Amino acid sequence: MPELGVNIDHVATLRQARKTFEPDPVAAAVLAELAGADSITLHLREDRRHIQDRDLRLLRETVTTKLNLELSVSEEIIGIACQTKPEQATLVPERREEVTTEGGLDVVSHRVAVARAVQRLQAAGIAVSLFIDPDPRQIQLAKELGVEAIELHTGQYALARGADQAQQLAALVAAGKVASDLGLRLHAGHGLNYHNVRPVATIARMLELNIGHSIISRAVLVGLERAVREMKDLL
Ligand code: PXP
Repeated sequence: MPELGVNIDHVATLRQARKTFEPDPVAAAVLAELAGADSITLHLREDRRHIQDRDLRLLRETVTTKLNLELSVSEEIIGIACQTKPEQATLVPERREEVTTEGGLDVVSHRVAVARAVQRLQAAGIAVSLFIDPDPRQIQLAKELGVEAIELHTGQYALARGADQAQQLAALVAAGKVASDLGLRLHAGHGLNYHNVRPVATIARMLELNIGHSIISRAVLVGLERAVREMKDLL
């Protein structure tokens, strides 16, 4: 069974909608760990649209399982990562106009920048994972760059339906085999939810799944009834 990394970015998204103090992603991380999360994942974006520097600092102090920081190859963010020292850094592509991370990191086209980021992070003692599409060329290059892990982008699988979904799953299975045969740790994530997670979780040698939006979305709905009752009791 793979380990579960809970991505808490969208707790911060809700907070930033009002630029207030709640809900606090630090509190969310404590609860996720109490419920059995194996790691806490967060993405410090250059535009700081959800997670803030203060969140990362406090999470570094409070997370007791494993802190997995998603980040772009930005010099500034890499510098922050090297100072903060999460156990794992996952390099992702980042574009300001995107709603969420839209595709895997193109290691083939950005080899020099990625290699430099990997070197800086590893020199700080941080294990590096590359978030890439299920493409054997990208996986081979990840191996050549000396990273510890790859995270397969499951976004296309999550969006696909019917025969297309079966094809996307087959690509993930094949890519997973390439990665683990090369001795890379195998992770996956993006768009996974309560309906589509099982086939990905059962891919051979899958070690870690990072899941955010579906868990936070469900938390809002399963918690709403109690929250309304508590407010009614106050009136
Ligand atoms: N893995 C990576 C590399 C991501 O960028 C994200 C989104 O921040 C996730 C996993 C989680 O995706 P989702 O929120 O769709 O579960």
